[in-house]
Amino acid sequence: MTKVTLIPGDGIGPEISDAVVEIIDKAGVKIDWEIQTAGADVAEAEGSPLPSRVIESIKKNKVALKAPVTTPIGKGFRSVNVALRKELDLYANIRPCKNIAGIKTPFDGVDLVVVRENTEDLYAGIERQIDKDSAESIKIITRKASTRIVKYAFEYALKYGRKTVHAVTKANICKLSDGLFLECAREVAKNYPQIEYKEILVDNLCMQLVQKPQQFDVLVLPNLYGDIVSDLTAGLIGGLGVAQGANIGEDCAVFEPVHGSAPDIKGQNKANPTALLICAINMLKHIGEKEKAEKIETALYKVIKEGKVLTCDLGGNATTSEFTQEIIKHLN
Ligand code: NAI
Repeated sequence: MTKVTLIPGDGIGPEISDAVVEIIDKAGVKIDWEIQTAGADVAEAEGSPLPSRVIESIKKNKVALKAPVTTPIGKGFRSVNVALRKELDLYANIRPCKNIAGIKTPFDGVDLVVVRENTEDLYAGIERQIDKDSAESIKIITRKASTRIVKYAFEYALKYGRKTVHAVTKANICKLSDGLFLECAREVAKNYPQIEYKEILVDNLCMQLVQKPQQFDVLVLPNLYGDIVSDLTAGLIGGLGVAQGANIGEDCAVFEPVHGSAPDIKGQNKANPTALLICAINMLKHIGEKEKAEKIETALYKVIKEGKVLTCDLGGNATTSEFTQEIIKHLN
């Protein structure tokens, strides 16, 4: 039985994790889940929101499914999510974004992938209060991290038959930092003549994405732009409830949705488990459970396409539990 680390997170995390674990179980996949808690409650009990046992578990199992963890705003501990990615050197954050049959959106034909650098930029967490009226944050961009993420984007494009890679920056303003990212992108692109290489500024990208998103294929971005743009692209296909993601490193992979812990709907049995379920499907394929993964995938997309039992974010009125049971009914 494969051992997989499960981080149920907080907010809606435990509700959607329970739903996903039940679906996987009912699909007949035997997983030995190693449950690892993290976040605010853990910080209170164990002195750290991300105790070393969590990192050790993922290092040992090499694969994890992670639900969202709340990060206090303005003060308190550093983001568990950012720390986890950094500790495990999960340098590539992959967020595919494709229309799902049955979810009405203003756009058809969206099929793009956000490849976000995951270890540096403003997320390095190097900040200081200069005086009571001013503060500064340092944006770190290195040749090593930029080259490796752009290479990942091109390799991804090759592997999945994608045609174009756009490097996204604000190099007209951040001339040294984003300029370096762009320099690395141009260098890497030379090794992939079969893939078209393009550049776009992040503000223009945002405007183009909400006008004609179909023109984009693979987008590679430094950390902050990648974070923001991937919420935007989630909105193109039906919202955060259906937006999948994965954090990939040389040794480990942590599959986690784009969305956060949604405190506004916590404990109300309203959350959509789809994003986490798609992450779990990808995780199952990653560990070699392709057939069962496809069985779950077929059931999920059938339920969404039928449109009879949908959660509120998708325009329905089903609870998380009703939606989960409907998917289980469709497993065969
Ligand atoms: P959020 O993604 O939690 O929520 C934004 C909006 O989308 C809310 O209205 C929420 O109800 C809705 N939403 C999100 N996921 C949904 C789902 N599965 N089903 C139905 N509706 C859903 O973003 P927000 O409010 O900015 O962040 C809340 C907390 O989550 C913060 O502490 C933030 O730091 C944390 N966060 C954690 C992430 C992670 O663990 N990877 C990623 C993003 C945010």
